[in-house]
Amino acid sequence: EMLEKGGYDHFMLKEIYEQPRSIYDSMRGRIYPLDGKVQLGGLVEYSEKLRNANRIIIVACGTSWHAGLVGEYLIEEFARLPVEVEYASEFRYRNPIINENDIVIAISQSGETADTMAAIQLAKEKGATLLGICNVVGSSIPRLTHGGAYTHAGPEIGVASTKAFTAQVTVLTLMALYIAQIKGTISQSKLISLLTELETIPSLVEETLKTNDQIIQIASELQDSRNCIFLGRGTGFPVALEGALKLKEISYIHAEGYPAAEMKHGPIALIDEEMPVIVIATKNSSYEKVISNIQEVKARKGKVVAIVTEGDVDVKDMADYSIEIPHADEAFLPLLATIPLQLISYHIAVMRGCNVDQPRNLAKSVTVE
Ligand code: AGP
Repeated sequence: EMLEKGGYDHFMLKEIYEQPRSIYDSMRGRIYPLDGKVQLGGLVEYSEKLRNANRIIIVACGTSWHAGLVGEYLIEEFARLPVEVEYASEFRYRNPIINENDIVIAISQSGETADTMAAIQLAKEKGATLLGICNVVGSSIPRLTHGGAYTHAGPEIGVASTKAFTAQVTVLTLMALYIAQIKGTISQSKLISLLTELETIPSLVEETLKTNDQIIQIASELQDSRNCIFLGRGTGFPVALEGALKLKEISYIHAEGYPAAEMKHGPIALIDEEMPVIVIATKNSSYEKVISNIQEVKARKGKVVAIVTEGDVDVKDMADYSIEIPHADEAFLPLLATIPLQLISYHIAVMRGCNVDQPRNLAKSVTVE
C-alpha cells in the first residue's frame, strides 16, 4: 500500500498533488489555443441538439453536484443557455418537467451512483438527450448516456473527492466553451485568450500547491475548532460549498458553505471569536463586495482565513491569515482556489487523528438510494 501511495502518507494527499496532471489529462487533445477551438468527440453528434436546446439540467450528488454549480456559471456565462443544477436524489422524485429539447448532463466520478443513475433513467424516458461526465471508463452512467466526455483523473482512492472534482470542473469548462463555440456566443479572440490561459492552469495549480507549508501552520491554528464557515461569491460559491464538504467529511468538524452576501441573512449570528471563516477573496468582479463581507466578520471578532490573489494587500491587512494563489481569469478560479481548501481539510483531519482516506460512515461510491 505504501508503494501505491507513491511516498505520500495518504491517498488523499497523493491525489491532491496529482491535480496538475489530472487537469492536464482532462484537457489534453481537446483544446487548440492557437486556432481558438475546443474539440469534444463525445459531443459532436449532439451539436445540433446543443445548438437548439432550451436548457441544460445538470444532475449529480455531493462533490459532483458542486462541480455542476461551477458548470452552471460557466455555461450561462459563455454559451448563454439556461442551466439548472439538481440534486439527483430530489430530481428523480419530483415529477420534473423535461422534454426532447432538454439536455441532461450527469456528473459522477464513479459512474455508479444510484441516485444519479435513476435521475438519468427518468430523463431518458421523457426523451431528453443525456450526456455524461464520468471518471470511470465503462461504468454504468457512461453506458446509460448518449454521449459525453470522460474526466481523465485516473483512479481516485480517497473517499473524499479531490482530483475528480477539478477534472470535472475542467471538462465542464471545455463543455461551456464548446457549446459557446457552436452557438456562436463567444468571439474567436475571447476563445483564443481563454484557451491560452486554460493551458497554463496545470502549472498554476503546481504553484498553488506550494502553499502547503503555510497551510500546515494555519491548520494547526484551526484544528480544535468546532465549526467553520466557508464564503465565496460567483464561482467562489461552489468552491466554498466544496471546502465545507471536505472539512465535514474527513475531520468531522461542522462546516457550512455560503454565498458571502447571504451571511447577513442568518449565518452572521453564528460569528464570534470561536468561529473561523474561510473566505475566497481573490481579485475578480466581486472583490470589493467580499472585502465588505470580511469587514462584517472581523467586526464580530471572527477569525478570517482568506484565499487571495498573489500580491494582494487590502484583504491581507484585514485577514488573520491569507493564502496567496496565482492570478487567473474568473472562469478558472475554482481550479486554483479549491486546492488550498483541500489541503486545509487534509491537514486538520490528520492533526485530529482522523482516518483521512476512509472517513467513518462513508463509502467511495453510493450505489444504494
Ligand atoms: C465527495 O468527497 C463525496 N465522498 C461524495 O459527495 C461524492 O462526491 C458523491 O457521493 C458522488 O459520487 P460520484 O461522483 O461517484 O457520483
